[in-house]
Amino acid sequence: MNILIIDDEKNIRQTLSGILTDEGHTISQAETGEEGLRHLEESLIDLVFLDVKLPKMNGIDVLKQIMKEWPQIDVLMISGDSDINTAVNAVKMGAHDFMEKPLSLPKILIAVQNITEKRKLYQKCIIDDEKIDYRYRIIGQSPQINTIRDMIRRVAKTDAKVLITGESGTGKELVAYAIHKMSVRSDNPFITFNSAAIPNELVESELFGHEKGAFTGADRQKPGKLESANHGTIFLDEIGDMNIDAQSKILRVLEEGKFERVGGTRTIDIDVRVLAATNRNIVEMIKAGSFREDLYYRLNVVPFYLPPLRERTGDIPVLLDHYLHVFSNELTTARKHFSDFAKDLLKNYQFPGNIRELKNLIERLYILSDNDEIDESDVRQNLVFQNSVSSDIMKTILQENSYSDAKQSFEIYYFTEKLRASNWNISRLANEIGVLQPNLSRKLKSLGIIIPEDN
Ligand SMILES: Nc1ncnc2c1ncn2[C@@H]1O[C@H](COP(=O)(O)OP(=O)(O)OP(=O)(O)O)[C@@H](O)[C@H]1O
Ligand SMILES: [Mg+2]
Repeated sequence: MNILIIDDEKNIRQTLSGILTDEGHTISQAETGEEGLRHLEESLIDLVFLDVKLPKMNGIDVLKQIMKEWPQIDVLMISGDSDINTAVNAVKMGAHDFMEKPLSLPKILIAVQNITEKRKLYQKCIIDDEKIDYRYRIIGQSPQINTIRDMIRRVAKTDAKVLITGESGTGKELVAYAIHKMSVRSDNPFITFNSAAIPNELVESELFGHEKGAFTGADRQKPGKLESANHGTIFLDEIGDMNIDAQSKILRVLEEGKFERVGGTRTIDIDVRVLAATNRNIVEMIKAGSFREDLYYRLNVVPFYLPPLRERTGDIPVLLDHYLHVFSNELTTARKHFSDFAKDLLKNYQFPGNIRELKNLIERLYILSDNDEIDESDVRQNLVFQNSVSSDIMKTILQENSYSDAKQSFEIYYFTEKLRASNWNISRLANEIGVLQPNLSRKLKSLGIIIPEDN
């Protein structure tokens, strides 16, 4: 790694430098915060050792600056006895950890080792293109996401048409953007056209533009989104919502690279790459006659399917981490973290709104809660209540004839959900709901509720 040491004490710099060079790292040094920041501008640093107490600009201000400008850098604070509290705060603000003076060799080696590993993992899971702003990176390390990332890399090199499917909030637009950013067209426009967001009668003039006098109110010529995307990429979002007429015109663009503006006769040649997405079942739509089969085959040269988050729960922790980071930067507030219970709760949550829901949840928690630690109850209050599941259970309950059967259905549902939320921990749940643990255990047994093996 490239490591920068910012400390005004020469012997600290020398000791650290000696140890870390022996471990194969490349070291640079700075005596003041100002000098350190200048250095960061000029070179690609992975890790900064940062003294809490520095002359002029202090360590905390330097840390703030690093978090803001170079959020990808890891920071290890160095603190004397008297400034432990400050160092602890620094960790809450986003520093990786702190080391107390006098420095302990094993601790340093372990911390640096941890960071090296974390960075390797992170590197693997971000798209390796510096052009993509960290806010638009595809995060995740599940096999499914790794495959998607791999496909993006391959397909970006070509002009192949791509159809991206998946539930709402799974990242379809993000994938389209990544393909564009990694392609040779990346310096040209990326234009999104969303058929669902525009009234049917305006779709064609928005997409293809119109000539003066094409319809009442068309008092001058106006280019469409397609023209604006020339030499770049057009992303046809929610293509399943596009009407049949517009579908035919798009087909012609795909086949011949030509179109006319609405009300015009001049044929315009265009060079765009077309990416499309939908959360509808296009195959069913073709059967029903509302989507052109030939357009489907044209578009679906490379199919991308984005699985829902509940089928790749392994990605939840990295996504949480990523968005904690993003929002602390965007809202320029101290970095928050989740309590262990809150994390468990989220790992077991279904996320019907997928990653968009996770992202919105974290943003809301940043804005609404004052504490740096987000606990289970904060999370619970902010999760979207799943109406569909709860109304289904209500139906089941009402279908029972006898009171005792209805009560039993309710109890099974209630305890299973509660247990899931408390990570299958019976004593914790007993405490939470005010029941003695042996009674709860007996109850669960009588209801036939089984705790999963690995808990
Ligand atoms: N793998 C991921 N890593 C990080 N952020 C993600 C990921 N997938 C989605 N997001 C974020 O979640 C939000 C929703 O993603 P996006 O808009 O791409 O979803 P979508 O599939 O197009 O949804 P819809 O069908 O509702 O339009 C965006 O803010 C996006 O940045
Ligand atoms: Mg979308």
